[in-house]
Amino acid sequence: MLSYRHSYHAGNFADVLKHCTQLAIIEYLKKKEKPFCYHDTHSGAGGYTVASAEMQKNGEYQSGVGKLFGRRTGVKMVDQYTDLIASLNPTGRLNTYPGSPQITLKARRSIDRMQLTELHPADYSHLQEVVGKAKKVKVYQQDAWQGLKALLPPAEKRGLVLIDPSYEVKQDYKTVAASLQQAHKRFSSGIFAIWYPVLTRNATEQFVGQMANLGIRNMLRIEHCVLPDVERGMTGSGMIVVNPPYTLKADMEMALPVLDQLLSEGGCGSTVLEQLADE
Ligand SMILES: C[S@@+](CC[C@H](N)C(=O)[O-])C[C@H]1O[C@@H](n2cnc3c(N)ncnc32)[C@H](O)[C@@H]1O
Repeated sequence: MLSYRHSYHAGNFADVLKHCTQLAIIEYLKKKEKPFCYHDTHSGAGGYTVASAEMQKNGEYQSGVGKLFGRRTGVKMVDQYTDLIASLNPTGRLNTYPGSPQITLKARRSIDRMQLTELHPADYSHLQEVVGKAKKVKVYQQDAWQGLKALLPPAEKRGLVLIDPSYEVKQDYKTVAASLQQAHKRFSSGIFAIWYPVLTRNATEQFVGQMANLGIRNMLRIEHCVLPDVERGMTGSGMIVVNPPYTLKADMEMALPVLDQLLSEGGCGSTVLEQLADE
């Protein structure tokens, strides 16, 4: 089932949290001279056109990147994200929004490698077009979970694995947990960042609890809700980061209040920042 298309949601508040976190991890990995590998399990189309019918349909980007574009907040993690978006939009108008592959492509060094899996034929073709021709980038039209088995561990022995499913089917929550456990066994030194939606509080806590009980050490939970918990619709989203950079929690302590202030609806937002599993 591949009915989800990220082009309708690109740049929304959930993308902001995910891409700020992703970029902070990439910047951390660049501090060491040794090359790293970026593995994206659900890559999407790579980049998105703001004027497209899809992005304009519900205008979700307006409550996400639209509120941050052109701003400088004085908080490093947020500003490095807005600077990257600005560098892709040199006219000063928000014309394009990067997907997770394009964010890493822009931020990485020439020595760093990227491996990307995406199943949807149209998104795969676009992804190939946007980032696939760059050096040290390989795009696979492959199932995310198969890709994790086939492509990890990377030769570099260091890097980020971004796991960003669309959770179209309930089974995805179980598959994420089982696949993370397997992938972590093969690449235990890797940083894994798993995105999740906040739809209902019960389901969210159940999923997070399941992740916390996988027996994997050193997990950080980062969550931002732009609305109070309700029974329908996505009110927020979160990231679970395995082996987070030691700077990430402190950086998030600074970034989350700023994101909340700028993105939450009517000041009704909330944030969570907690160590889910000890180091
Ligand atoms: C949330 S979007 C990814 C967004 C992207 N990571 C970003 O931040 O720009 C999820 C993507 O996963 C793809 N997808 C869904 N199931 C998949 C699977 N089993 N294997 C690979 N890709 C899948 C969908 O086609 C969709 O493009």
